[in-house]
Amino acid sequence: MRRALCAVLFACLALAVPARADTYPSRAITVIVPFAAGGPSDAMMRILAEHMKRTLGQPVLVENVTGAGGSIGVGRAVRSKPDGYTVSFGHLGTHVANGAVYRLGYDLDADLEPVVLLPSNPMIIVSRNNIPAKTLPEFLAWVTSQPNPVSAGTAGNGSGSHIAGLYFEQVTGLKLQYVPYRGTGPAMNDLVAGQIDLIVDQTSNAINQVRAGTIRAYAVTDAKRLDSAPEIPTTDEAGLPGFHMTLWSGLWLPKGVSKEIVDTLNAAAVAALDEPDVKNQLKNLGLQMPAADQRSPAALGTLQRAEIHKWWPMIRASGVVPE
Ligand code: MLT
Repeated sequence: MRRALCAVLFACLALAVPARADTYPSRAITVIVPFAAGGPSDAMMRILAEHMKRTLGQPVLVENVTGAGGSIGVGRAVRSKPDGYTVSFGHLGTHVANGAVYRLGYDLDADLEPVVLLPSNPMIIVSRNNIPAKTLPEFLAWVTSQPNPVSAGTAGNGSGSHIAGLYFEQVTGLKLQYVPYRGTGPAMNDLVAGQIDLIVDQTSNAINQVRAGTIRAYAVTDAKRLDSAPEIPTTDEAGLPGFHMTLWSGLWLPKGVSKEIVDTLNAAAVAALDEPDVKNQLKNLGLQMPAADQRSPAALGTLQRAEIHKWWPMIRASGVVPE
């Protein structure tokens, strides 16, 4: 009887103890990318996962869970077990803007544990090739001359490309007709095919199509030109001074996960960012590495809260009605 009681007590204690970091990870890790395969979020995470799996000694799988500007995928991660095996990939759109655009059913700060800030990039104003404009002023004049609002591809309300579109409308006074996709990968396919007029997109998603001449670039939303594409002017130079936007990405875990697991995942991501081959692949897409002092979990949390404070008023002033 005493032996049976001890066995039950021991079993209960074993269940009560959270997954320990020294056994983490003991199986594959899934990173939920809340946008379609082939887009900038998907591309960045797959490049990083290739290296992180070697550091962690377990497969790092990318699962695309799309819809509602990325909030469906983030919600899946938020409601997963806080055991380090389901990771949320996101960015300024999903982990900041979505909170002003949707009634999420979760709290972007209280329900998520920041892990690491990932690379960032400016947005880029790109259009289909057969528009009679070569410069941003000519493009804006063409948009103004159209009888109806021109079509702008996005990854859904609250996505980075949608927020960039709202910002574009605010600084130009022009109206856009948004066309939502499950990511800017599919949106880019339609832009190349001439089905939509423009995207204010992540540079990393558009730069190779610009280089191939299949779409046209007018400016990047930064104060300085891209080292990887110095021929593209900045918005300051091209006639929209001050139209600056940096889209940063990051990794989060559900709240309640142990600090040791956060630190283990953070270390694997930082090691990937420092790997020369990984760094070159990302930089060639116009992505900028996070500064050394911005790579702690706390730094991502501080940035996320500051960006919520910065962007929510603009989003709400744009008239977007929370869904
Ligand atoms: C966005 O516009 O939020 C992202 O670029 C979408 C994506 O990564 O596909």
